[in-house]
Amino acid sequence: MPVIGFIGTGSMGGALARAAAKSGAEIWLANRHREKAERLAEEIGGRVVDNETAAAGADWLFLGVKPAMMAGLIASLRPALDARETPPAAVSMAAGTDLARLRELLGERVPVIRIMPNIAAAVGEGVTLWTPGEGVTEEQKAAFREMMGASGMLSEVDEHLMDAAAGETGCGTAYACLFMEALADGAVACGVPRKQAVEYAAQTLRGAARLLLETGDHPGALKDAVCSPGGSTIQGVRALERGAFRSAVMEAVIAAYEKEF
Ligand SMILES: NC(=O)c1ccc[n+]([C@@H]2O[C@H](COP(=O)([O-])OP(=O)(O)OC[C@H]3O[C@@H](n4cnc5c(N)ncnc54)[C@H](OP(=O)(O)O)[C@@H]3O)[C@@H](O)[C@H]2O)c1
Repeated sequence: MPVIGFIGTGSMGGALARAAAKSGAEIWLANRHREKAERLAEEIGGRVVDNETAAAGADWLFLGVKPAMMAGLIASLRPALDARETPPAAVSMAAGTDLARLRELLGERVPVIRIMPNIAAAVGEGVTLWTPGEGVTEEQKAAFREMMGASGMLSEVDEHLMDAAAGETGCGTAYACLFMEALADGAVACGVPRKQAVEYAAQTLRGAARLLLETGDHPGALKDAVCSPGGSTIQGVRALERGAFRSAVMEAVIAAYEKEF
């Protein structure tokens, strides 16, 4: 079983470590404030190490720091990486940092997979877009699929789609949470107790998502199926259209895409 090292065990690195732990691999966890890695290790059973140990010994290195910190982090890892006879494969989840830049930072000996995950990987319902860089072997691709198998959907894409889809998948969990919060607020305003209202909102989204995925229908067709003529749902749809709901959501995705790093 490979050793998978995670450097940066925050929201996203932590979510992927939770998924990778289910593959049976040995997990090493390194984080700037060690306590965070220690808490995660207690939960998923990994070993807490420092950055250099991970760089010197792991077979895979998941880099989970903020994009602005990537260059500094990798520079600090280079002596350990360069000293290795067989370097590890690296996985970068940093938004906006492309494969060419990662190769420049890590050097040509380190094969890199660039991914755009989302936080629901922690519960096996994530969506992870991935693009292998130069020099990633078929065996490494297969190993990657296996170690990320418990994270949810994996989709190999051309790199040019990575940033575009990130505004939808990476950021979309936040938009979906805003929507669920608003659904629940509406229900609370109508008298439903808060706890139930939040659970109903979450299950309503889960149900709609499963229907869409399992039927393969167009979302508009499912919306139409719920809107009986003269009924209440179409009145709700009218209110959302008045509030420019769909336009607001589209703008959110595009704003995230256009953000510079
Ligand atoms: N969050 C998402 O939903 C999401 C989705 C897609 C992609 N991403 C990508 O995932 C990456 C991490 O984002 P995040 O949201 O998980 O951020 P985060 O929660 O702030 O996690 C970053 C982690 O990196 C640690 N860290 C910083 N510098 C370090 C260093 N030199 N050595 C070791 N650990 C270090 C931080 O430790 P301390 O807290 O101790 O400072 C923190 O735990 C970013 O590149 C982001 O673009 C995130």
